[in-house]
Amino acid sequence: MNFCSDNVTGIAPEILAAIASANAGAAMPYGNDDITQRLQTQFSDLFETPVAVFPVATGSAANAIALSAISPVYGAIYCHSDAHIHVDECGAPEFFTGGAKLVTRSTPNGKLTADDLAAVLAKAGAGVVHHVQPAAISLTQATEAGTVYSRSEVAAIAQVAQSHGLKLHMDGARFANAIVSLGCSPADITWRSGVDVLSFGATKNGAMAAEAVVFFDRDLAKDFEYRRKRGGAFVLENALFVGSA
Ligand SMILES: Cc1ncc(COP(=O)(O)O)c(C=O)c1O
Repeated sequence: MNFCSDNVTGIAPEILAAIASANAGAAMPYGNDDITQRLQTQFSDLFETPVAVFPVATGSAANAIALSAISPVYGAIYCHSDAHIHVDECGAPEFFTGGAKLVTRSTPNGKLTADDLAAVLAKAGAGVVHHVQPAAISLTQATEAGTVYSRSEVAAIAQVAQSHGLKLHMDGARFANAIVSLGCSPADITWRSGVDVLSFGATKNGAMAAEAVVFFDRDLAKDFEYRRKRGGAFVLENALFVGSA
């Protein structure tokens, strides 16, 4: 056992075998191969609703480019002070959004709360030209503290976001762990609870550099492929989800 990080273990043998099998023969690049084409259906089935899914190679790319799709350059993105986007992404969210401000909250157990966000948003200066404009909330599920948001906690935060016109992003680097812990469906803890866009993590669960951005509000995804390409995150070969697809 090595508890240094959930990144220390290798690729799951089943996934490695699936990648080796997918590697045979020729296939069209840039997502035009049959396996990657099936992702839209696979993810829509998994989430029980039509989604727009975009594979990327790292969680930081997923987060930063997803946030750029839901915040203007003058936006404020609310997150926990321990959030990976704030602590561990070398300024990528600020860079990819073109300068949006991360506004951190230090509420207990690594979790944002609806009450705290409501209080902070009430005096955030929406519409006041001198202030960054509230644009998005980003929560991590499961959190950096190892805690998990319940469905009602996510829904309460989404309610605050919606009432202030903000979008809700979920960093799901450990999404699968949260699902198992909660015993709920992926749909229940995301779009049914008000999440607009999810960074879907697979690397920490044995995949090989396989992450994805999943839009439940597909209107938000309309220019995402350009953002992904411009961000250098559009990969030539995407045998990344072969284990699932
Ligand atoms: C909460 C969280 N988000 C995102 C990531 C993705 O990071 P990376 O860019 O290293 O794939 C991690 C990895 O440690 C993480 O713990």
